[in-house]
Amino acid sequence: MKALEGKVALVTGGTGGIGTAICIKLADAGAKVVSTYNHEEQAREWQSRHAAMGHEFVITRCDVSSYDDCVAMADRVKADHGGVDILVNNAGITKDGTFRKMTPDQWNAVIDVNLSSVFNVTRQFVDAMTDKGWGRVINISSINGQKGQFGQTNYAAAKAGMHGFTMSLAQETARKGVTVNSISPGYIATEMVMAVPEDVRAKIIAGIPMGRLGKPEEIAALVAFLASDDAAFITGANIAANGGQHMM
Ligand code: CAA
Repeated sequence: MKALEGKVALVTGGTGGIGTAICIKLADAGAKVVSTYNHEEQAREWQSRHAAMGHEFVITRCDVSSYDDCVAMADRVKADHGGVDILVNNAGITKDGTFRKMTPDQWNAVIDVNLSSVFNVTRQFVDAMTDKGWGRVINISSINGQKGQFGQTNYAAAKAGMHGFTMSLAQETARKGVTVNSISPGYIATEMVMAVPEDVRAKIIAGIPMGRLGKPEEIAALVAFLASDDAAFITGANIAANGGQHMM
């Protein structure tokens, strides 16, 4: 039997760079995988492309920055799949800019999509996990929530906030079989990192001891491990995967 056979996994923003690798890895481990999306056409194309390669993902629309949208999405997921055992809060955006230029819109968008979403989505599923006595919440944070980053006051605040959330909820659910952890990826080869100006990106890569960007699969492998029974004693942790760029 596969490690995650019989489990339902919800991955927010599963159609993105790291999200896709997570969906594939969890499905390969036996889970039924549901991904939320924000852009219908793109998500349908993603779904059929992966179906053609043997992965049948369920997709469901949700603006994770909206509490009401998350309530509606959760109702659909519960009706169609009976609930969620593994929740991966992966959806995230960047709106980089130095603080002196940062607008309230840039600030609010990143806090809402990257941090408030974690409340909005987790709130819908965690009670059922504790009632059942088994659950996994895995939050995809960032190296920049640990070390800060020039041009990312909004993003670093949201990503550091995710870990505060992780440590607190982990304490509340520890006796109920539900673990809550965060993963802090370093710079991974995805569209998000490719959007960083090339000269800036080259300097960042030069500062990574391994001398390369990470692969989405290297984050997905950690997610699958944290989701498994083998990781039952790990909770409230923040696991870094950053090629040695930041050690603590
Ligand atoms: N440290 C110190 N000074 C820096 C600097 C740095 N890292 N980067 C730029 N500067 C300086 C410049 O030399 C320039 O100085 P002068 O004014 O003296 O010439 C000044 O800052 C430029 O300031 P501006 O406000 O004009 O900034 P800008 O419009 O040129 O753009 C930026 C700044 C948007 C932050 C741009 O540098 C950038 O995109 N940086 C990358 C940020 C980054 O790493 N984002 C990560 C995205 S991927 C991700 O988030 C995934 C993940 O989890 C890792």
